[in-house]
Amino acid sequence: MPVQIIDHYQDAPCRINPILLEKRALLLLELLQCSRQAFNLVLVDDPAMTEYNHRYRQKNAPTNVLSFPAQDGNEIFPGQEDELGDILISVDTARVEAGRENKSIHQRLTELMIHGLLHLLGHDHERSKQEALAMWDREQALLRQLRTKTNSSQERKTMPHLAINVDHVATVRQARGISEPDPVLAAGICELAGAEGIVVHLREDRRHIQDRDVHLLRQTVKTKLNLEMGAAKEIINIALDLKPDMITLVPEKRKELTTEGGLDIIAGEKKLAKTIQKMDKAGIPVSIFIDPDAAQIEAAVDVGATFVELHTGRYCDATSAEERDLEFRLIEQSAELAFESGLRVNAGHGLDYRTTARIAALPTIEELSIGHAIISRAVLVGLDQAVREMLAIVRHPFPEH
Ligand code: PXP
Repeated sequence: MPVQIIDHYQDAPCRINPILLEKRALLLLELLQCSRQAFNLVLVDDPAMTEYNHRYRQKNAPTNVLSFPAQDGNEIFPGQEDELGDILISVDTARVEAGRENKSIHQRLTELMIHGLLHLLGHDHERSKQEALAMWDREQALLRQLRTKTNSSQERKTMPHLAINVDHVATVRQARGISEPDPVLAAGICELAGAEGIVVHLREDRRHIQDRDVHLLRQTVKTKLNLEMGAAKEIINIALDLKPDMITLVPEKRKELTTEGGLDIIAGEKKLAKTIQKMDKAGIPVSIFIDPDAAQIEAAVDVGATFVELHTGRYCDATSAEERDLEFRLIEQSAELAFESGLRVNAGHGLDYRTTARIAALPTIEELSIGHAIISRAVLVGLDQAVREMLAIVRHPFPEH
């Protein structure tokens, strides 16, 4: 293994995605033309970093990164052939720096890894001002090259789109069994207010959206129609006939009030791959609704999905600030991993007027799918205003950290 990630930070309150770091580390070795060499990336907390800093540099405080080049015989985690050495990073310090600079934790860890790698290769900013400048330039150049290679960027190219789920309008209609309120009319009002997409879930039990709705929506939606659906034969055939602009595959249980969890792609890989092939042939891009989980993201790539929609439910339902923070970090790192794996990334479920800003600010998320919060507000203030208020949040997110 050219890069060994030694995670001594596992039980701490900020989960780190080793797959994402390893991918970036391997690309960096390639960019530095050191692909045959190896290094250890050791993730520690502030108290452990303070100990290392004291033992090796006589400084009694934590620091963000320390490098121990193998050629100096300074390595503390030896073990691999052709090893450049060890890079120790304090995740606690990196997390504070990331927050201050409004970056994701993985972005900051990547910057520190670049700094540490250059030290392993003999650069030293403490030797002279000139060397410090040269090292800084090299770091910035590597960051730019890495962004190009991973297709990632800190700056968002466009704002995320707001796609509105109008199932809840149909739920009110079905409660009376008459023709009002009409989700097709509601979709038109959402589009006139600025929504960039309409989502409906055609359930097997037809509890809200009906076949008539999807056919009319196909004719009237001017933006993008996303058909949410379980992978049941009958619904697959309707989708192939309807040709929505995209479909989102979700798990569907008859007894649930709403979609509960993400789809387990690993458990249903064969069936999903077949469904995706059918949609591909018909030119319909497929998104899969998943929990923010690295293994599911890898499986989404394997089955040939174009998009994943990350489930934001646990983040929205969190009952403490700490829990919400933890769930947010998980979505943030999953979005980065999915994006860098070549998937397009959407997110949704449970988002409301308080929880949306932080998710909308994530630079790798392309579209948010929101229903209940907007339709609930619409009952009180009108649909046009409810959509415009949500659009204002999505387009100018001021995340509460
Ligand atoms: N995304 C998916 C996959 C969903 O199943 C739903 C609920 O229908 C949503 C987004 C929208 O969730 P909410 O209505 O809570 O905004």
